[in-house]
Amino acid sequence: MYSLVIAEAAMELVPQILRNHPSVKNHSKRMGRGVNEIFLDISYHHKAMVEKNIDQWWKRGRPDIVHFDLVEALSTPLFKQKKLQVYVSTFDNNLVTISQDLRIPKNYYRFEGLMIGIFNKQKNKNSPNLIEFQENVTFKDLIEKIVRPDLIIGFSVKGTQSKISDILQNNANDTTKHYCFVIGGFQRGNFSEAVSGACDAIYSISPFSLESHVVISRVLYECENYI
Ligand SMILES: C[S@@+](CC[C@H](N)C(=O)[O-])C[C@H]1O[C@@H](n2cnc3c(N)ncnc32)[C@H](O)[C@@H]1O
Repeated sequence: MYSLVIAEAAMELVPQILRNHPSVKNHSKRMGRGVNEIFLDISYHHKAMVEKNIDQWWKRGRPDIVHFDLVEALSTPLFKQKKLQVYVSTFDNNLVTISQDLRIPKNYYRFEGLMIGIFNKQKNKNSPNLIEFQENVTFKDLIEKIVRPDLIIGFSVKGTQSKISDILQNNANDTTKHYCFVIGGFQRGNFSEAVSGACDAIYSISPFSLESHVVISRVLYECENYI
């Protein structure tokens, strides 16, 4: 059994402190939604994020990364065989648990609309109970109380350099065990201490800093050797 946690994911509603900023108000107007009904998006809200100097602004406001990651993970044979449980743990400690039966919208705007509704606790008519949303779930709580894996393997360019095949072969080759992979759902920066400290090991699979969806595809493809 495998779990994938997209950690510190850059997907959050616009924080209260930014909701009066002109760049946020203009964007919400263009979208035809209230300022509390849009995701923080660095493409549109960069000025607000920098001017208000919100904590680690460079690591936030990229919900499109989560979309890419989910499309990648949920399209794999591993997921289709229900051998993969996927979680999105956001920068601001919200948890999105993805049902193994979910078909994720491939179109970003449909995905965004679905997720914003879920973050605003609106009942979803199209996919009831296929996406669970919980507030105030820290990464530690997620690992210790919900996932409870036998081993947690994190991926970061700063980790121990290794081939993906060796990482799986040496650490995650027992089909009776539950392995949890942790991949950052953000654009810049590194794992917080809370995340890196919870991992049993952290590996780098390339000297390049890769997009998270590339790392997800390589890890999950390698898992297919063990199912
Ligand atoms: C765009 S990166 C975040 C930037 C960060 N400096 C980095 O490269 O780790 C998003 C995520 O992809 C994964 N990742 C990126 N490059 C990697 C590498 N060379 N080896 C392993 N994981 C990597 C990590 O989980 C990272 O948090």
